[in-house]
Amino acid sequence: MALAGSQQLPFALRVRRALADAARIAELSTQLGYPSTTEQVLVRLRTLPQDGTHAVYVAENNDGVVGWVHVYEHLPVCHDRVAEVAGLVVDATCRASGVGKRLMDAAENWAREMGLDTVVLRSNVIREAAHKFYEKLGYSRIKTQHAFRKVL
Ligand SMILES: CC(C)(COP(=O)(O)OP(=O)(O)OC[C@H]1O[C@@H](n2cnc3c(N)ncnc32)[C@H](O)[C@@H]1OP(=O)(O)O)[C@@H](O)C(=O)NCCC(=O)NCCS
Repeated sequence: MALAGSQQLPFALRVRRALADAARIAELSTQLGYPSTTEQVLVRLRTLPQDGTHAVYVAENNDGVVGWVHVYEHLPVCHDRVAEVAGLVVDATCRASGVGKRLMDAAENWAREMGLDTVVLRSNVIREAAHKFYEKLGYSRIKTQHAFRKVL
């Protein structure tokens, strides 16, 4: 599959596939509200299906990785396959400078390359700033859900 990353971007920012970035992905995951260690992220990255149905991109500037996005092909039996953004975060020191949009561009380009015509995502109701960001990028609210969990 073509790498949708590695686009040369303005202000010395580029988006590429995640490689040896587990430490920064862990730090940024913690900022996102999911405290993670480098080791945990390493295991998760290695456990992701290697069949091309998942992609993790990072954005990096001259100081290093400042954001990541994880997108995957969601293939439920009840509707056609879509791309789903599983997670997106930009370093708190780099927000509102276009990084999140470039990561979403990479996710959407990946979806197009996969032949997927729709991108979906879920966002906690408390993330009002993120909702404005997604709406700016053309996403519409389609429903509100409750999230359930049962620990086994
Ligand atoms: C949400 C997030 C990923 C957005 O990334 P970002 O780099 O700050 O956003 P960008 O600078 O790329 O913004 C892209 C566009 O959205 C707009 N936008 C971003 N945040 C906005 C806000 N709070 N209100 C209004 N517009 C906003 C920008 O103005 C920009 O529009 P423009 O192209 O006309 O200038 C980032 O703020 C973040 O990591 N937040 C914390 C984690 C989080 O909530 N993640 C999403 C979980 S669902």
